[in-house]
Amino acid sequence: MKINRRLQEAVPSHHVNEIMIDESRIRARVDELVTEMVDDCRADDLVLVGILRGSFMFLADLVRALYLHGIHPRIDFMTLSSYGSGTESSGQVEVQKDLSVDVEGADVLVIDDILDTGRTLKFACDRLVAKGTANIRTCVLLDKPSRRVVPFAANYTGFAIEDCFVVGYGLDFDSCYRELPYIARVTFDESASG
Ligand code: IMP
Ligand code: MG
Repeated sequence: MKINRRLQEAVPSHHVNEIMIDESRIRARVDELVTEMVDDCRADDLVLVGILRGSFMFLADLVRALYLHGIHPRIDFMTLSSYGSGTESSGQVEVQKDLSVDVEGADVLVIDDILDTGRTLKFACDRLVAKGTANIRTCVLLDKPSRRVVPFAANYTGFAIEDCFVVGYGLDFDSCYRELPYIARVTFDESASG
């Protein structure tokens, strides 16, 4: 698999050559998740809120699947950041770009790439409650339950995975690899970590 040249120079010990979840499994799971969602959601005033930047690809696939079920949501994004660069979260969630649409009284479905410590989604949901949403649900493609610091459960989860660092389908390592159409595991040379 092609390694990102810039990141390879900065972190020569990393490898991205193990596909964990391929495109067909993602596609099939997106369809299943949407089938669950349409039974639960109020189609007349639904707002999908994607947490940027990791959710962009998942959200794009979800909305097209929802369309096939006759669901026509408003779509907005919130840019939240806790990671800085690298693979360790700073623990502090920051709003880099807030919502643009008015969500007061609306049913909101928050979409994120991965539920890790739980801080980001907890923060997003608290913020949406403060904005007067009628009802909030959350949907994540991936969940690492063993990593939770803040108690949090998503309403819809694509795949639960073990504690490892993954990229692709929107997820990044230092802003690289978001474009991969599948989820891949990042491995590091033990000898290089010291
Ligand atoms: P949380 O606030 O710790 O739950 O982290 C959520 C955010 O951390 C996600 O939206 C991702 O941006 C990032 N993150 C957590 N685990 C991974 C990973 O394995 N690969 C890439 N990003 C990750
Ligand atoms: Mg993210």
